[in-house]
Amino acid sequence: MTGWQGNDRISARIGTLTRPGKDQVYFFIFAFLTSLVSSALAGLAIDIGGGQDVTSQQFACLHDQGAQIAITQLYNSSGSLVEKGVTNILNAYTGAFFDGFNVYITPCLANCADKSTSGVAQVEAVINRLNQEFQDVFIWIQIDKSSGWSSNQQTNQQSIMAILNAVNSTNGAVGIIANYNTWTTYFGSSFTSASTIAQYLLWVNWNGKQDLTTGWVPFGGWTVTQSRLEAG
Ligand SMILES: *[C@@H]1O[C@H](CO)[C@@H](O)[C@H](O)[C@H]1NC(C)=O
Ligand SMILES: *[C@@H]1O[C@H](CO)[C@@H](O)[C@H](O)[C@H]1NC(C)=O
Repeated sequence: MTGWQGNDRISARIGTLTRPGKDQVYFFIFAFLTSLVSSALAGLAIDIGGGQDVTSQQFACLHDQGAQIAITQLYNSSGSLVEKGVTNILNAYTGAFFDGFNVYITPCLANCADKSTSGVAQVEAVINRLNQEFQDVFIWIQIDKSSGWSSNQQTNQQSIMAILNAVNSTNGAVGIIANYNTWTTYFGSSFTSASTIAQYLLWVNWNGKQDLTTGWVPFGGWTVTQSRLEAG
């Protein structure tokens, strides 16, 4: 991958602030997929949501336990930017040599604190905030009931397509965090268009089994999952 220079995977922009570069993010993902071939335990990601503070020491501990990608929440379903998410990315970076430093957005679809009119505006707010510190951080979109998804699946389909297109048009890639039940409830079992934009699926499966196949049923057009979400 062009631009990859060994340990120089993150280049400083402002003082000691660091940012994953676009090529590097692709590389992280690629390395991540490749690693699944050799180990069923590979690909464990961690989700730092809910505005928690996580110190660099805690990140180091999570890394020791097998987490490979640090994923922190940058926007929550109440309609707020999660400023601690920015700090958490930096703590993850100083704490351990993760394969990837990613963020996720839990869209707000109703009664949003920031009065966002659309998921697209929320994506723009997150990208603008990230651009102040980092470059081209990989963004996941979390599908969760807290977002206030409509009971109308077509409405939801339009919303998620707009959100995914907004991320992809800026970053050139995007991922989805979901499981079978949430996905089929909000979007229907035959809706596969989202997976043509979101090439990466982070499968949420709380069955306590540390593998990527136990209980896996394809949905949304994703036939394989790149990872399962391990810790909340
Ligand atoms: C979202 O963030 C705001 C501001 O920090 C907080 O008040 C609210 O409780 C958060 N909502 C969720 C669902 O985490
Ligand atoms: C996502 O973005 C990439 C890079 O700009 C582009 O090549 C690709 O066509 C986009 N995917 C979709 C489905 O629009």
